Amino acid sequence: MDKFKITGRQGLSGGIPVSGSKNSSLPAIAACLLTEEPVTLHRVPKVRDIGTMLKLLEHNGATVEHLPGGAVRIHAAKIVNPEAPYDIVKTMRASSLVLGPLAARTGVARVSMPGGCSIGARPINLHINGLEHLGATVYQEHGYIEASAPNGLRGATVQFERITVTGTEDLMMAAATAKGTTILENAAREPEVVDLANLLTAMGANISGAGTSRIVIEGVERLHGAEHEIIPDRIEAGTFVIAGVMSNSEVTVENCVPEHFAALLTKLRQAGARVEESASSVQIRPVNRLRSVDMTTEEHPGFATDLQAQFMALMTGALGISFVTENIFENRFMHVPELARMGANIRIEGRQAIVAGPCDLTGAQVMCSDLRASASLVLAALVARGESILDRVYHIDRGYENIEAKLAGAGARIERVA
Ligand code: EPZ
Repeated sequence: MDKFKITGRQGLSGGIPVSGSKNSSLPAIAACLLTEEPVTLHRVPKVRDIGTMLKLLEHNGATVEHLPGGAVRIHAAKIVNPEAPYDIVKTMRASSLVLGPLAARTGVARVSMPGGCSIGARPINLHINGLEHLGATVYQEHGYIEASAPNGLRGATVQFERITVTGTEDLMMAAATAKGTTILENAAREPEVVDLANLLTAMGANISGAGTSRIVIEGVERLHGAEHEIIPDRIEAGTFVIAGVMSNSEVTVENCVPEHFAALLTKLRQAGARVEESASSVQIRPVNRLRSVDMTTEEHPGFATDLQAQFMALMTGALGISFVTENIFENRFMHVPELARMGANIRIEGRQAIVAGPCDLTGAQVMCSDLRASASLVLAALVARGESILDRVYHIDRGYENIEAKLAGAGARIERVA
């Protein structure tokens, strides 16, 4: 398994480019199942989770073509296998995003229960309830969910008892060709939901309200092919902005949409960071010392849970006490014991982590556990005194494209060792 070797305290400079969004590409790929015509997606990042999703679509019967410049052309002319098998789903839970599209396109969907992951139980009961509201019959056996809608799906009002990003995306795709009007109440407002609505609209869907908590989908007869550019990855961008602030550098994070991670930028300014933004970049400038600030994760437009671990790493170097509260997932503090090995002073009390700073971190051998916890270890290693070895970097490869090349390109001393 690959490792990263990082020598800290190098400082960053110049520009760090951001790739297309993993969490927008995943539902966009699933949406290609909704039409028998080809769909071309631009700026799909080359990360493991995307490879897994494309493999799943080929399993369903689609052809996948990688075009020059990183675009992907997906053609689901016919569906031969309306299922997401266990061996694919167990490596990537977002495979449940094919549930709605397969049920809508073929009237049948068989999707392995995702199973938990290190950050929580990750149930998909809200996806299932929503599909049943649209007229599907759903039952579970042998670890699989079977949804069937032999007479097609029909529009309905779906009230999400809890905000769910992929639940909103799954149901929006299922409703696009259902008979009649679907209203999603308490829908997720993430930029990735808006991006998916834009793709579906380009395919001929009739959707309004994406980005608000009430989305209205007028079912249409059929969807056609389209071409679409995936939005930049706001979590990758936020991770690099934190890297710049943490290493007290003058650095620019490029090809991003700052308003997609406005909550992070507000928090960084409250902590005393100097952060300027343009329409497509964020410029960080050095300051002498950061103040500790409290942070609570919330659904968008609140502070993204996917940036919680990275922000916590930043707070280890700030002056004072920071209360970090994780409201979205039940077990998303896996990075804490690893940061402690590097000298961080963090105590966990239930959903809250209490970070005392500043701590001068020292390099150590640490273990990556989940995607974003691993990103926080990279950030900590960049500022720690001495050398760090990060094991199991395949966790990082799931969601960051060439992270070591991007950081090395800005002056970091980071290399991948087999
Ligand atoms: C999406 O996961 C993202 N993944 C996650 O990013 C992100 O952390 C999460 O949204 C929250 O922003 C993708 O978009 C592919 P949820 P998702 O459904 O949709 C509970 C990363 O690092 N829930 O919004 O699975 C759930 O357990 C990943 O890129 C139910 O109870 O998250 C959680 O506590 C990690 N029943 C909360 O809701 C359901 O049916 C929010 O989950 C669905 C969710």
